[in-house]
Amino acid sequence: ATERTLSIIKPDATRRNLTGKINAKFEEAGLRIVAQKRIRLSVDQAQQFYAVHKERPFFGELTEFMASGPVVVQVLEGEGAVQKNRQVMGATNPKDAAPGTIRAEFAESVGENSVHGSDAPETAREEIAFFFSGLEIVG
Ligand code: CMP
Repeated sequence: ATERTLSIIKPDATRRNLTGKINAKFEEAGLRIVAQKRIRLSVDQAQQFYAVHKERPFFGELTEFMASGPVVVQVLEGEGAVQKNRQVMGATNPKDAAPGTIRAEFAESVGENSVHGSDAPETAREEIAFFFSGLEIVG
């Protein structure tokens, strides 16, 4: 079924001017960018967004990094968009990411891994609502 997922182009990627190259990967895979904005998160907002990870040892590093520069938040739409986006991104650790995936080509490390994508349809709904109102999503 047609589905939506939340994607974030992270500060390591915006800093290296990779927004267009990453968006091309999404579009080539048949994902449509139905909402998109470039924003700067505060540490507090990054902590809210990643609250499920707050007990992890890397929580501080992760949230400081996500607030360290601009991010591009976007809604991707398509057939099985959550899974399709996860395939296009590749594994969290770029060392494990399949050739041709965004993380294999662009990620710098497990922390500075260029993109975030929702892990399931229910998470996608929550993550989309965190950043976007219905009016901002144009399918
Ligand atoms: P993301 O999909 O944004 O969701 C949680 C993030 O935590 C994940 O991508 C990684 O970038 C980050 N992460 C996971 N493991 C580590 C780690 N060991 N050190 C730093 N960041 C990590």
